[in-house]
Amino acid sequence: MSVASLQRKLPEQQPHSAQQAELHPQLNRAHVRFIGLGKTYQGAQGPVPALQGIDLAIQHGEVFGIIGRSGAGKSSLIRTINRLEQPSSGRVLIDQVDIGEFDEDRLVQLRRRIGMIFQHFNLMSAKTVWQNVELPLKVAGVPKEQRQNKVRELLELVGLQDKHKAYPAQLSGGQKQRVGIARALVHDPAILLCDEATSALDPETTQSILGLLKEINQRLGLTIVLITHEMAVIRDICDRVVVLEHGRIVEQGPVWEVFGNPQHEVSKTLLAPLQHGLPQELQQRLRAQPESAQAAVVLRLQFTGASGDEPDLAALFSALGGRVRLLQGGVERIQGHALGQLLLAVSGSSLGAEELRQRAGDWAQQVEVLGYVV
Ligand SMILES: Nc1ncnc2c1ncn2[C@@H]1O[C@H](COP(=O)(O)OP(=O)(O)OP(=O)(O)O)[C@@H](O)[C@H]1O
Ligand SMILES: [Mg+2]
Repeated sequence: MSVASLQRKLPEQQPHSAQQAELHPQLNRAHVRFIGLGKTYQGAQGPVPALQGIDLAIQHGEVFGIIGRSGAGKSSLIRTINRLEQPSSGRVLIDQVDIGEFDEDRLVQLRRRIGMIFQHFNLMSAKTVWQNVELPLKVAGVPKEQRQNKVRELLELVGLQDKHKAYPAQLSGGQKQRVGIARALVHDPAILLCDEATSALDPETTQSILGLLKEINQRLGLTIVLITHEMAVIRDICDRVVVLEHGRIVEQGPVWEVFGNPQHEVSKTLLAPLQHGLPQELQQRLRAQPESAQAAVVLRLQFTGASGDEPDLAALFSALGGRVRLLQGGVERIQGHALGQLLLAVSGSSLGAEELRQRAGDWAQQVEVLGYVV
């Protein structure tokens, strides 16, 4: 599958306004752009506002993550990209073309350029793996030989060439999702939408599907927009992430930045499971005031990835003085940035707690004195 074929454009693609193209060259190179997007459903009890004032740009070739609590509007947002959901206000531009005015024919064309995969795979149980992947090509009237070549190529890409005669019931969850991915790619889409695509899978299978998505992103140059409740998925494959709450954007940025230093309460809550809290046993021993001269000061050093340098522990310990014990912590690397925290207990130093905090601030982006332990 050639990148060129994936990047072919719809006819009549023009920037929607030449003036705007000049004013915002970066935004106008965006692959997907939401401008003042709103969506209100008509529920049984009246209108349900699901999205409000969404302004967002997703660039070509990005793996873009959407997170937020249940009901935040994630699925509603992603489904406006292929117009499975019609916005109530605002606009969605794809390659600078407003898709709001598309008639049925152009919508069919648009949807072929945008593949989608789901949590529950949505495969046809009475059709084989081969037939499931072939079906959308048949519907589109693609000649037989071309269909066969495409299905063969895609089953190879997703590693299912041996399973082409199997029925969905004979496949594992991971294999079913691979069929879903192959089927989503039959028309050489430029964008792949993933709504909770790994939520029904175990951690190991999730890793293998994420590996496949990353490969597709890099080899085929596809833009991937994915929704997940698993923060590790965002950490492992996304470039940027947006956090939704009550239908609004509350935070967005490169993954390392949002994960290293989440600003909004929702982001902090969602990311809490990835961060190691204070161990309970230590929490119980922690005192607000030193109870004896031997008490150790407990410091929490946070590395947000903002500095390029990895912490020099020997220099840090010698600046703090006394005896420094590591209670818990470590760093992990996201997009080349070292993020993490260290919990240290410092005893026998000539420095007071506040001085220790300030000294440690030369190595970490945020330092807190949590208390004292004996
Ligand atoms: N067809 C519909 N009719 C009425 N209300 C709807 C409809 N679809 C979604 N909603 C409401 O819109 C809001 C956003 O829903 P949406 O499915 O986009 O959330 P979500 O972030 O994807 O949630 P989840 O994580 O649970 O999938 C919710 O309050 C939901 O109840
Ligand atoms: Mg959803």
